[in-house]
Amino acid sequence: MTRTVPVPHGLPTKRDAGPFAPPRQITQLRDARPVSPMVFPDGHEGWLVTGHEAVRQLMSDTQFSSRQDIGVVHTVEDIPDMPAQTEPSPQIPGLFIAMDPPDHTRLRSLLTSTFTVKRMKQLQDRIIDITERQLDEMARLTPPVDLVKEFALPVPSLVICEMLGVPYADRETFQVNSAKFLVKEQEIEEKMAAYGAMTGYLAELVTGKRAEPGDDILSDLARNDDLSIEELVGIAFLLLLAGHETTANMLGLGTFALLEHPDQMAELRADPELMPDAVEELLRYLSVADIFYRYATEDIELGGELIAKGSTVVVSLLAANRDPRRFDDPDILDIRRKGGGRVAFGHGIHTCLGQQLARIEMRAGFDGLLRRFPTLELAIPADEVKLRTDMNIYGVHELPVTWTETAE
Ligand code: HEM
Repeated sequence: MTRTVPVPHGLPTKRDAGPFAPPRQITQLRDARPVSPMVFPDGHEGWLVTGHEAVRQLMSDTQFSSRQDIGVVHTVEDIPDMPAQTEPSPQIPGLFIAMDPPDHTRLRSLLTSTFTVKRMKQLQDRIIDITERQLDEMARLTPPVDLVKEFALPVPSLVICEMLGVPYADRETFQVNSAKFLVKEQEIEEKMAAYGAMTGYLAELVTGKRAEPGDDILSDLARNDDLSIEELVGIAFLLLLAGHETTANMLGLGTFALLEHPDQMAELRADPELMPDAVEELLRYLSVADIFYRYATEDIELGGELIAKGSTVVVSLLAANRDPRRFDDPDILDIRRKGGGRVAFGHGIHTCLGQQLARIEMRAGFDGLLRRFPTLELAIPADEVKLRTDMNIYGVHELPVTWTETAE
């Protein structure tokens, strides 16, 4: 192993190796030193983990705390003057993605039966229905249209709203505010204001559900008197945010990737049986939920390095999913690729709760889109597509597309 790659100062984010590949510096680091020191913008030292094996080891070790905030209070990345944390972040009620056991276990276990493969399969027809209706609407428009606005964002938003019992008509409130919340360099005041607007809205909603529960996930949770209103709000916030931003960006960036790989797209159109493997491959290849933070609660050995207690550790799932030590030809999109091991949904106790839902949405989404728009193409040159390098979930801001015919 060579150790000639310089220690990064700040997290490399520039997509200088193309819209789908990790930043070059991240790839170089992974190949040279998969667990590497890094210097944060405020000058404090932490670690950047990019190798597949090390990422899996780290994510399955609860000595690495998740109580490293996810941006509600601050992130080490976007507030240069923020001093290094000296202890885990305070917990935000209900936000179990940023909690450790036993709090994490208590809250997550309230939802595991809701998100099982079986329960999600039961929802499949409804998801297909929502997808097809959105595609009907898109087909009525005169191209070019923005695929993100007309398809990629509405489908998962409609689905998660229906599941949670959040009125879709209120989408301005949560779409605009969650977007603000995910901007990396957003002023802390703006972020707090967006968070306040979201939680204010959700507090009213869950209070109403507690008084008069309906037939939806938030109502089911609201019936449980062990949960405080603050906890209900935190859970609702997490599910709403995680439930639409991630899948929306997979649909948007995934369509862009398929359009840039016309042979693969043609194969997929010709044989929809390939769809489940294609979705897994797109998840690996794109890893839109890329960067996660952990916090070492002990001195821990990882990948031959000693991570000192109190260190901030940054993980790149995209780098891990492109690790040549784990995947053959990792930088090739191959919709026929077999075998598991991908970490696009994370790994360990925080592994994505909504992954079965996301899979069904993506299968229905790509299937419908390719079938209904057989001549779909980009309406602008590929290098003009606006990439979300400024956001905590990667993807495209807009995807202008056009077509000459539609199908049923
Ligand atoms: C957690 C990715 C869709 C809900 C996670 C994590 C990843 C991830 C990487 C792990 C975070 C960590 O370890 O800190 C994705 C991707 C998606 C997706 C790539 C779409 C393609 C969804 C959907 C939901 C959802 C549709 C809907 C409910 C959650 C929740 C957690 C989570 C609640 C926290 C789990 C925990 O802390 O125990 N997701 N996600 N995700 N995801 Fe997803």
